[in-house]
Amino acid sequence: MAGSISEAARAKINLALHVTGRRADGYHLLDSLVTFVDLGDALEFWPSEADGFHVEGQFGALLGAEHDNLVLRARDALRQLAQNLGCATPPVRIKLVKNLPIASGIGGGSADAAATLRGLSRLWKLDLPEAKLKTLAVSLGADVPMCLASTPLVARGIGEELTLLPDLPAFPILLANPLVGVSTPEIFRALTKRNNPPLPPFPLEGADWWPYLHNLRNDLQPPAEELVPEISTVITALETSGAGLVRMSGSGATCFALYHSQAEVEAALSRLKETHPTWYLAASHTLTGSQA
Ligand code: C5P
Repeated sequence: MAGSISEAARAKINLALHVTGRRADGYHLLDSLVTFVDLGDALEFWPSEADGFHVEGQFGALLGAEHDNLVLRARDALRQLAQNLGCATPPVRIKLVKNLPIASGIGGGSADAAATLRGLSRLWKLDLPEAKLKTLAVSLGADVPMCLASTPLVARGIGEELTLLPDLPAFPILLANPLVGVSTPEIFRALTKRNNPPLPPFPLEGADWWPYLHNLRNDLQPPAEELVPEISTVITALETSGAGLVRMSGSGATCFALYHSQAEVEAALSRLKETHPTWYLAASHTLTGSQA
């Protein structure tokens, strides 16, 4: 549409998620290796007479009540911050194309919120200090700052302390989700051990990442498999698909498999679509720092 601004809300993948402690407020301390894939929701913003919000896409109908939507919470929070700084924030229509499954561990809602902060900052020509935008982002959700960066990184703290990793290679990847929603707080609550070791030091420049990745974990995977047995079914199906590495992302239920070639990921996708026609299945590749 003429005069509109588009933003991609890319899916986030926790290649590893180590739970290293817990804060006094109950939030968990993490050490997580995060990357993004060339798949996601799409947002469009354009000036209008009045604010508006329209949702479409494969998973659009499953989104909850409007007032809870992270896109609208991000719009309202950014508007408040901008107005406090004396900036104009005229009405805007927003379209969200929801391609990613809801509550699925790949940061769909957080990526939507981050894309809203980016898109509206452009539309309203805001030039907010990065620190202010980041504080606002984390107030919307622990994963929103990493989605604002949308490039390979390590996330520490509760997910908001970011170190960019421009050298992380791209991997062919398959995402699989049994379309069972997972409650993130419930998975965190079910953890039996919270003081796990952090990520080991990264491979030296030019070294092979595969053995390193194999050594890592998602500490949320055991409680998630316990609470949602379908996740174990997905893991087993991916493990027998010729993948080089299989793991759950975030608090699930989306699991991912990394392959050594794009041909392998495409072959696995078509086989799994036949054996598990009701699952969300998508083939893509992870993005490097220069592609993101
Ligand atoms: O911040 P966000 O709304 O995404 O987090 C959802 C829930 O997940 C939190 O209320 C908390 O129970 C849990 N969580 C946590 N530690 C984190 C991130 C999330 O315990 N680092």
